[in-house]
Amino acid sequence: MGKILAKTRKHFTLKQKMPDFESNFRKKLLRWFRQNARDLPWRRNSSLYKTVVSEFMLQQTQVKTVLPYFERWMTIFPNFEVLASASVEAVVRQWSGLGYYARARHLHKTAQRFVQNPPRSYRDLLTCPGVGSYTAAAIASIAWNEPIAAVDGNVVRVLARVFNYSAIFTSKADAIAWTTPHAQKLLDKEQAGTFNEAMMELGAVVCTSTTPDCEHCPSQTFCKAFREHTVEVCPRFQPTPHFKKTVNRLWALRDEKLLLEPSLIGNKQLWELPELTEERKAQFRDLKEIFRAKRTVTNTIYTEVFYQPHSSMNENRSEAFFETLPFENCRWFSLQQLHTVALSGPHRRWIQQILRDEQQMAEAGTVP
Ligand code: ADE
Repeated sequence: MGKILAKTRKHFTLKQKMPDFESNFRKKLLRWFRQNARDLPWRRNSSLYKTVVSEFMLQQTQVKTVLPYFERWMTIFPNFEVLASASVEAVVRQWSGLGYYARARHLHKTAQRFVQNPPRSYRDLLTCPGVGSYTAAAIASIAWNEPIAAVDGNVVRVLARVFNYSAIFTSKADAIAWTTPHAQKLLDKEQAGTFNEAMMELGAVVCTSTTPDCEHCPSQTFCKAFREHTVEVCPRFQPTPHFKKTVNRLWALRDEKLLLEPSLIGNKQLWELPELTEERKAQFRDLKEIFRAKRTVTNTIYTEVFYQPHSSMNENRSEAFFETLPFENCRWFSLQQLHTVALSGPHRRWIQQILRDEQQMAEAGTVP
């Protein structure tokens, strides 16, 4: 009988289907989190507002980058009401430097929702601008203890290793789809927020992608990848082919007006800095590179290079002059009006950056 039990136990351990696997995993993880949780400002005197702001800021941005922004944000916009009634420019200004500015605009709109018609559940949150399933699960579990697992890249890594998932994830969505049912099963339904934060924390500080610290991991005894020495190579993702492309663009600023060109992105018409095709480039005798930026769109890395007609040529480059050039669909927009123009996200950032650079150079007395 003892032998059969031992065999059964061994079988269960290998398959990780012991009925107490989940509760033991939870217990160990939560104890570790109680002892090791980082002292983060949104965890001190936490509130729904702090949770919402921190989760927006933490989308695609690391904790250490978010910290100073979060602290300053709380002094300027201390609650939903103040944030909701601020101007969108003031909100974007405070976000400046954090990147992905759509998040700031979405957070602003979401704050207005919280004031007018407050979401009260995971489902409600999904209808707020800028809130996807991860953010909704994080907010609903941390603020309301709703039992929904929050699955991001960190949680994928932890659970892929715990179950030693050896197949190749074809995309992030594929990885999240595989991980979610496991995370939901392991979730501590009584302490959903704490459990979710503990999983994020484990992935961020212990079960990291390149330097996992298995010796100090609370899930070591549950981890099949640890037992089978595959931690370093788990999870595996299909490599995305990376193509490289360079796009040249023109920076034409005249009398506080900027030349922009319409572009179709998705099904939305957005304005961008005009592309400097070979035909257009040939119209200028002297162009000077003033800025360059990189961005990745699906599987292509774009290098965007911005040129300005050389200062000695500026007199010739009046608005009227541009009408004689092949810039047919382009239009001039006053800088004051730019915030009302539907600019593509990266272009808004680059324009702000170039304007800041120009201002700094003007202050330093340097002619660009
Ligand atoms: N990443 C996303 N949400 C987080 C949180 N609440 N704490 C730490 N890291 C996070």
